[in-house]
Amino acid sequence: MAFSDSFLQDLADRNDIVDVVSGYVALTRRSGRNLFGLCPFHSEKTPSFSVSPDKQIYYCFGCGKGGSVINFIMEAENLSFPDAVHFLARRAGIQVPEDKPDLNSRRRERMLELNREAARFFYNCLVKEPDNPAQKYINLRGISGAMVKSFGLGFAPNTWDSLVTAMRAKGYTRQELLDSGLARSGKGGGIYDAFRNRLMFPVIDVRSSVIGFSGRILDDNEPKYLNSPDTLVFDKRRNLFALNLAKRSKSGYMILTEGNIDVISLHQAGFDSAVASLGTSLTPEQARLISRYAQEVVIAYDNDEAGRNASQRAIGILEKLDLKVRVLNIQGAKDPDEYIRTRGADAFRNLIERSENHIEYRLQVVQSKHDLGADEGKVAFLKEASQLVAGLGSPVEREVYGSRIAEMAGVSREVVEDEVRRLRKRMLSNTKKKQEKGTLRPVKVAQPKFKNIKYENVRSAAAEEGVIRLLYLDPGLFKDRDFPKKEDFSSELLGRLYEEIRQRTLEGGSLSMAALSESFTADEISHLTGILQKPEMLSNGAKALEDYIEIMRAEKNSRENKDLRLIAEKYRQKKGYGG
Ligand code: CTP
Ligand code: MN
Repeated sequence: MAFSDSFLQDLADRNDIVDVVSGYVALTRRSGRNLFGLCPFHSEKTPSFSVSPDKQIYYCFGCGKGGSVINFIMEAENLSFPDAVHFLARRAGIQVPEDKPDLNSRRRERMLELNREAARFFYNCLVKEPDNPAQKYINLRGISGAMVKSFGLGFAPNTWDSLVTAMRAKGYTRQELLDSGLARSGKGGGIYDAFRNRLMFPVIDVRSSVIGFSGRILDDNEPKYLNSPDTLVFDKRRNLFALNLAKRSKSGYMILTEGNIDVISLHQAGFDSAVASLGTSLTPEQARLISRYAQEVVIAYDNDEAGRNASQRAIGILEKLDLKVRVLNIQGAKDPDEYIRTRGADAFRNLIERSENHIEYRLQVVQSKHDLGADEGKVAFLKEASQLVAGLGSPVEREVYGSRIAEMAGVSREVVEDEVRRLRKRMLSNTKKKQEKGTLRPVKVAQPKFKNIKYENVRSAAAEEGVIRLLYLDPGLFKDRDFPKKEDFSSELLGRLYEEIRQRTLEGGSLSMAALSESFTADEISHLTGILQKPEMLSNGAKALEDYIEIMRAEKNSRENKDLRLIAEKYRQKKGYGG
């Protein structure tokens, strides 16, 4: 029995893992993004059971059990996969659809191919003919040729059917063109290009698939932007413009802007972690996506009323995921693009750096959460605000803002100073502990925690785990190279996990743990969750991938050579040589 990916995704979305797990385990927030509690699946005295609200998974560092909300219910209620699905559907009050295989996967694949062809077509229209209006517009906005290339910008010509004709010649049907949103149907039953005379921005997801388009008008006409409708492969609320590029940034933070042009301007100025929501205000799904790649977000919205309101909303959403949030205060320009053009990249960098100490802003946010008129409100405010102040790098700042919060809450300065000192000491000793752990512990290639899963070659298996992790987190790395083959894996299970993720990546299927859970046993999913929990340096993903593959190859060779030697040995014995 198979449930569709989209149903499983929907089911998981409507059963927030924190809510569900909280019904079984008392969870508390420690520092960081995860919640912790005592593992319900093995007996322990100190909590090693973690729940990640942003990844919507649980994982026990003690016993190694982990997975999606569905796996949790399977374990906790001792149910089969389909029964756990029904259990959660009832809990969320949704219907389980008739069982049928995912008929859409082939259509999805075709649509992605069509989008890619269309992007190529628009790109060629832009670069092959030097004097076209989109190129003129690009020059006017000061966008470089390098940016045209890395964003794959394009030009939709001012005709009714250039794209339709070109795509039909490649074998795409009328229905496929309509479904993708690239064409619309006319009165007489014909179809025509949806995007005309526009600068085209392909929307590319983290798997490097072209999933949709934004088209900007080249003059002051309306509508300024035209976007692909939601399709089988495009969901505006679950994607971000330029995330395909930003996810590889080494900056450690993501810059969130309103406009596509802002994003391009920022990348051009060296801020390679800029993304934009796709004409919607930031959604929780987009925030969750960001949290997969960064711990910190710099909001750089437009300098107007709408931008400020949108910032407030975005802060609320991002903070729920425990992302660190900073807000840029752009003055003297209407948006990041204009700011950079008029003041330069260094000024913008300053703005980001200054916002780090933008503690006023954050104090206000904390203040607004508590009622300072009531005693409990005061206490809660002081706790949270002292934490914030304790995190400041400079002693002067700690003193200044320490006094400020004492004043705000109407308590003595000394009380706050003591509290801040105490918190700071704890913070420092925690980071020190973490560092020590990180450097002293040798890289451990452990056997899986499950009896029925054994690695024959731990060295190769560690590399194989790395390949899976990279494929999951940054599938684009695999684009211009041959995929490793399932047979290259020394571990049968890792080969299978890899193959499933690879297929889904190629077909645009869901990679959520909920969707994957159906194809694997509980232990296998736990093991996969563990693999994905380990840290991976995405900023140097390409190099890491090469290293992993090299290790796998070397181990495979030595395995095969050993087999050959054994065969030769047997042969010799048979023939009566040696012995
Ligand atoms: N947008 C949209 N539909 C519109 C207007 C805007 O989808 N009619 C989305 C686009 O994704 C756009 C973003 O909202 O990039 C921000 O809009 P705006 O600031 O108007 O556009 P910019 O890309 O910043 O372009 P410009 O710098 O030319 O104003
Ligand atoms: Mn703008």
